[in-house]
Amino acid sequence: MALLQHAKRTAMRAAAGGVLWTLRHLPLGFRAERTLLRRSWQSGSADMLDAYLVSGYQNPRVNVQSILVRHALLARLLGPAAAAAMEEEIDWAIELNEVLRRRAAELGVKMAAYRDPVKHAAVRRVDAAIAERDHEFTDRWRQRLDRLETDPISVIEFACGSANDYRAFAAAGLGPHLDYLGIDLSEKNIANARRRHPEARWEVGDILDLSHDDRAFDYVVASDIFEHLSIEAMEHALAEAMRLAQDGVILTFFNMADAPDHEVRRVRAYHWNTLSRERIEAQLEAAGFGARLTLPIARWLRTVHGYGHSYNQHAWTIIAERVPRIIDVLPHRLEHPHGSDRGRDRGTYVRSDERGETDEH
Ligand SMILES: C[S@@+](CC[C@H](N)C(=O)[O-])C[C@H]1O[C@@H](n2cnc3c(N)ncnc32)[C@H](O)[C@@H]1O
Repeated sequence: MALLQHAKRTAMRAAAGGVLWTLRHLPLGFRAERTLLRRSWQSGSADMLDAYLVSGYQNPRVNVQSILVRHALLARLLGPAAAAAMEEEIDWAIELNEVLRRRAAELGVKMAAYRDPVKHAAVRRVDAAIAERDHEFTDRWRQRLDRLETDPISVIEFACGSANDYRAFAAAGLGPHLDYLGIDLSEKNIANARRRHPEARWEVGDILDLSHDDRAFDYVVASDIFEHLSIEAMEHALAEAMRLAQDGVILTFFNMADAPDHEVRRVRAYHWNTLSRERIEAQLEAAGFGARLTLPIARWLRTVHGYGHSYNQHAWTIIAERVPRIIDVLPHRLEHPHGSDRGRDRGTYVRSDERGETDEH
């Protein structure tokens, strides 16, 4: 009975609200969804896209989730010998994030990812506070990797933007150790990526329509994309990531919650969903990706690293493998290894009740 009433209400609203209502509330076929996604992500100039999502807290050299993606690859290349430097790098990133936070407060700048040139310029003024230091760890890793001789890891990155993360992969010396393919729906992004890094492979492509063979890559990397897809498309893209991955998937989420269900939200022509950690992990588990490192970033930084000002309270990173290879090497865990609250011990533990800034992705 309730279902019948719901269907009636739905039909009445659709008739009253017309196309806009329909777009917001009815599932779209993947082809229609791709058209809308493409329109959203192609809007704006190539220069704007080149600068988008790589400044402020999104700067991949100091963004903790970008660092975790690099740590996953470094763990595979360097093994346990890299663990101590990884922990150091997280503390270093926290220090630089805090410099950004304080400088933004001094200048009265609201830190987010902006397409608007004036707002973006304000974030760049804040960035000047760390410009002298943000390369410190990429330099360190590069020195180590330059001497290393190993077989490259094959990686496909879904929704790579304008080589947003690859720029820091290259700065850290990962380039020669990766057989890398970046895919993005936007031609402008791919043209930017090719210009910046002609040594890597870049393709305009749709992660909902991939023709690569099963297990064609060692790892699939995907950052800040799944929340922007309808649930059907997101589940399809995640299944594709697992189909393509011989070993594992390295996933960065900007909007996830410890909730039983996904929460759908349409913003303009695409989605801004809150994904359920439980449901994503269930899908990974069901497909045989039983070895996982799941980190709620803000909680992890607060309880293990004593930092209470993580810029995004809804960020999660999940690294999932068929058999544990990199997650056993990574030193990062939600529980502090010595069972104590390290931050509290050193007197810098901050309990933050503020909500993180949500970015305009
Ligand atoms: C929020 S940005 C993330 C970019 C990059 N991964 C990062 O973390 O900085 C989302 C990206 O997804 C791309 N994208 C959206 N839908 C896609 C699809 N169906 N297939 C491939 N790329 C897509 C957009 O062009 C855009 O570059």
